[in-house]
Amino acid sequence: MIRTRTSHKIKQFPSDARQCTVAARIDAKADALAVFVSEGSKWQISAQLPTALQSRLQELAALGDFKAKAGTVVTCASGSRPGRVIVAGLGKADALNADTIRWAAAAVARSARDLKLTNITILPPTALPERMGLLQAASLLTEGFMLGSFAFSEFKTPGESDETPPAASSSAMQLELLWPTADTLTQARQSVKNAAIIANSANYARYLACLPGNVAGPTRLVQEARTLARSVGLSCNIISATEARRLGMGGLLAVGSGSAQPPALIVLRHKGRGKMLGRKPIAVVGKAVTFDTGGISIKPAADMHAMKYDKCGGMAVLGIMRAVAALELPQPVVGLIPVAENSVDALSYRPGDIIRMYNGKTVEITNTDAEGRMILADALAYACKTLKPAAIVDMATLTGGVVVALGGVYGGMMCNNDALGHALIAAGKRTGEWLWQLPLHDRYKPLMKSPHADIQNSGAREAHPIQGGIFLQHFVDATVPWAHLDIAGVAHPRKDDRWWAGDQASGFGVRLMLDYLSQPAGG
Ligand code: BES
Ligand code: MN
Ligand code: ZN
Repeated sequence: MIRTRTSHKIKQFPSDARQCTVAARIDAKADALAVFVSEGSKWQISAQLPTALQSRLQELAALGDFKAKAGTVVTCASGSRPGRVIVAGLGKADALNADTIRWAAAAVARSARDLKLTNITILPPTALPERMGLLQAASLLTEGFMLGSFAFSEFKTPGESDETPPAASSSAMQLELLWPTADTLTQARQSVKNAAIIANSANYARYLACLPGNVAGPTRLVQEARTLARSVGLSCNIISATEARRLGMGGLLAVGSGSAQPPALIVLRHKGRGKMLGRKPIAVVGKAVTFDTGGISIKPAADMHAMKYDKCGGMAVLGIMRAVAALELPQPVVGLIPVAENSVDALSYRPGDIIRMYNGKTVEITNTDAEGRMILADALAYACKTLKPAAIVDMATLTGGVVVALGGVYGGMMCNNDALGHALIAAGKRTGEWLWQLPLHDRYKPLMKSPHADIQNSGAREAHPIQGGIFLQHFVDATVPWAHLDIAGVAHPRKDDRWWAGDQASGFGVRLMLDYLSQPAGG
């Protein structure tokens, strides 16, 4: 076998320091000032703005050309310093919510990036929905701005493409919030700092997810996990393929057997702090198939390139662990990432093979393209056995069926514990990473029956996302609260399904899980 190597290095992701700040006055270095206006209502023009700018905005309002629909922007000369103003629409005032505020801030960032501006000052809107304080608005604006500034442009040679100008990289963009009241300045700084850590961690997950299969194979991702652990202060243990063989992780080994790079199980630990120190951890498990050809049950050529995104669940777990460590959350958390490449090769696992898994159960392979559940199963069983976790949440681009059912807006959620499921759905509502529950009823169990082994890895046409959940349930202790998130539709959505993603990875799961893990006692 000839092994190809690529010299492309995974970019060192910048630390969160000083990218987002809060100030009482407009920074002299600002390239543009961003203000927000609502659709169909009289524009609220802040008396904090320079008078020249106030009259410019009044003129613009009187023209009525800019409708202020959510996610739209218009730029104009400000008549003062900074010379440019970005007017962003919030949509109808009575429909304003957390998601439209994030969306509007993301539109500001995108327009700034397209104009190659790097220093943006945002004047937060003051007409907020009931029960939303200015501090919450500050974190929403920061989050939206950071998510909107993301672009995966590392492989774009400057000047080679007309339609995409070589954009300022997201890490170069600076955000300043203009704060109206001196008494909450310190709290505002804290909100903005935390929001920046979470959004940067989502962008980190997005960046890794966008890397192609020839750059980010299993070996590189293992390296990346080590680098991350060192830089944010997590402990990192790698279960190598050799170790996995000794432990009997047949699922992980079978899926990785056709690749030139061996599979591995990455285990990252965050100890927690205070009175949570020493408590049972919450385990977060993410599927990282660095490229999914389907294996011997090979996928059709059309759209196969998008299967570089089959590592999104695992990359979300890297992003979650980055943020959990940087925020020094009290809750102990363990991230587990089974990583493998599903390739076609003489050594690949085959349809008909019977595999003994880490927990001793046997699986008949009816389709080598149902590989995600094989690697997750070993990781889940390992987590239950070695960690005795307080709860387990797994996330995976597991089935095409969930894309058909829920599209790019909601992720599919299945669970063995309603309290956990409800906490995750609630976290999804707060973060705009929405989940919809699918049933894990025992009546679905026969779908996974095999004549020759304990279960099969793929059944007939019906209820595919649920088949995935039922399969995984065989590898989770019934006493451990567990939820499975099928993120195949939301991790790499079609353009416009999720406003911050465009046609790139969305980082789905990072903000959702940070919200869940930050609740007292894990939600
Ligand atoms: N990675 C795919 C699921 C997927 C499909 C993600 C489309 C994103 C978009 C997964 O490994 C897979 O191939 N699933 C099969 C399972 C089937 C063979 C039982 C599917 O859903 O078609
Ligand atoms: Mn597959
Ligand atoms: Zn897959």
